[in-house]
Amino acid sequence: MEKLYEGKAKIVYKTDEPDKVIIFFKDEATAFNAQKKDVIEGKGVLNNKISSLFFKLLNEKDIPTHFIQQLSDREMLAYKTTIIPVEVVVRNMATGSIVKRLGIEEKTVFNPPLIEFYLKNDALGDPIICYEHIKALNLASDEDINTIKSLAFKVNDILKDFMKSHGIILVDFKLEFGKKSDGAIVVADEISPDTCRFWDEKTGERMDKDRFRLNLGELTKYYEEVLKRIER
Ligand code: TMP
Repeated sequence: MEKLYEGKAKIVYKTDEPDKVIIFFKDEATAFNAQKKDVIEGKGVLNNKISSLFFKLLNEKDIPTHFIQQLSDREMLAYKTTIIPVEVVVRNMATGSIVKRLGIEEKTVFNPPLIEFYLKNDALGDPIICYEHIKALNLASDEDINTIKSLAFKVNDILKDFMKSHGIILVDFKLEFGKKSDGAIVVADEISPDTCRFWDEKTGERMDKDRFRLNLGELTKYYEEVLKRIER
């Protein structure tokens, strides 16, 4: 298969159809802009399965996504998109970078949820940006930004309720949006424990990539538990 793009955790391959790609999930884990790196056997399979399940749920709820179908343990078929270089973070509760950046107390609830934008640029360390930066850097039009914000909040409502029904708190997550050849904006990339924070409702245990970021260990055990619960 011809490689179109390789990132830190995934590879995108061409297919026979110009508007479709295959996304392959690797076992590589990185944190802190790839200053911390490891290979965690089986992570790619779990992220592909979990991501496919979330995208399927969103498609069913009429949220446009790039997802077409899961093809194998490590591969999904998706529409080809041009990724908008803005990472969109939605936070229901304070933890992670916002606690450090703004001195907010850990676990402060954001009601309504908080939305943040980061420039998708590894060389710059994905700096936080605001609406005016998006405009000044010409990253997206007003109309696109409005669509992205509205979709991000809808995704939060759907995933928060869905995870709650499985005993998991959706603390925060990151989305990426892409533009299809017809101009439609869709949720792209992945939605997995690598890109979301999931806390067990009962025990408060972290069931996401913070196990790697914070050296808590047993990452795949917790990703497997997430998959097991949401598959039911
Ligand atoms: P943060 O608290 O480190 O800013 O992370 C917010 C959310 O975004 C969290 O769910 C993890 C996710 N995230 C990514 O998916 N990729 C990244 O590069 C970073 C920094 C965070």
